[in-house]
Amino acid sequence: MTHLPVPGSDTRDVWEIYLSPTWMPALLAADELGVLASIADEPGSVAEVSARLGLNGRALGSVLALLASLGYLVPRQGRFHVTDAARHHLLPSSPFHWGGVWAQMRQGSPLYTQLRTALITPDPAEAIPRGNGDRSVDGWASGTLSPEAAASMTKYMHSHSAAAAVAVAHTDLFASTRRLLDVGGCSGVFSIVLAERHPGLSCTIMDLPAVCELTPDYVKERGLADRIDTYAADMFRDPWPHGYDAVFLSNIFHDWRPATCLALARSAFGVLPAGGTINVHEMLLDDDGAGPRTAAAFSVLMAASTQGQQFTFGQLESLLTEAGFVDIDCRSTSPLHSLVRGRKP
Ligand SMILES: C[S@@+](CC[C@H](N)C(=O)[O-])C[C@H]1O[C@@H](n2cnc3c(N)ncnc32)[C@H](O)[C@@H]1O
Repeated sequence: MTHLPVPGSDTRDVWEIYLSPTWMPALLAADELGVLASIADEPGSVAEVSARLGLNGRALGSVLALLASLGYLVPRQGRFHVTDAARHHLLPSSPFHWGGVWAQMRQGSPLYTQLRTALITPDPAEAIPRGNGDRSVDGWASGTLSPEAAASMTKYMHSHSAAAAVAVAHTDLFASTRRLLDVGGCSGVFSIVLAERHPGLSCTIMDLPAVCELTPDYVKERGLADRIDTYAADMFRDPWPHGYDAVFLSNIFHDWRPATCLALARSAFGVLPAGGTINVHEMLLDDDGAGPRTAAAFSVLMAASTQGQQFTFGQLESLLTEAGFVDIDCRSTSPLHSLVRGRKP
């Protein structure tokens, strides 16, 4: 894979710092729920281990990917096996088991508690998400976000995604796009740099009303108010607007279960003309679901704090195919991110 050398777009160091706090909760949860002991007894795929232990397969897949990328599991022919490092320090049967340390570290770790809950809670059947708690994702799921939550989230996402957005804009992927619908576009962090790069492009940011109150300030600051507007809507319950040749979703699928992502892909399919494209920007897991470490750690963060997980290209390809898209391909846009594109026939 080749990456364009956009200054500042290689954010691997900062992502490592951002995500390393997921390592310990993943290990603590796997230890407490007997995941490694079970795999030591009998190697297994994500589906096999989740069936054996009655754990949520979506969250477990994220945890196993991270433990593999940290050197405690290795995938062979679709099954995870424990490594010597895991045998020595992570199995209760070992004289060198760190169980006493893990027991203490579980106290007072909110991320561990959230991840454990995700692992022991089955996914609901319906595609439209429900939001019953007080996390950001609950407001997103129910389509109701307070002005305060919207302001802090928008600021967070704008800085989180700025470098990745520049990397996407430096590809030629949107050179021939005229009208882009940026679903969950937030501050406009992607649309702004795409519009700057392509003078013939206009964009609409579709987001919840409380976010769309804030987006125009980010857009005006860059002098793009004539080419970027907003469409306030709940993407799960409101109609999507027509008239776009591309739908862009960055860091959206990773917040939701596959069934919910399929519903979003179907909504995009419904409003695109023939030849229009869906563009899913995400940090992808490897096909064997065993890394890379940054994507695996991001997946654990998503499993713990949202209703989602990171995907492999194969999983996204199947999902977009099921929604009706064809010619699905994947382009690496930065050392960490990829853009998966499908075309409406
Ligand atoms: C993880 S952020 C991604 C922001 C941006 N696309 C990026 O990559 O930085 C998710 C975005 O989806 C929006 N969102 C979440 N639930 C939504 C809903 N029900 N309807 C519309 N937008 C929603 C959020 O407000 C937020 O802007």
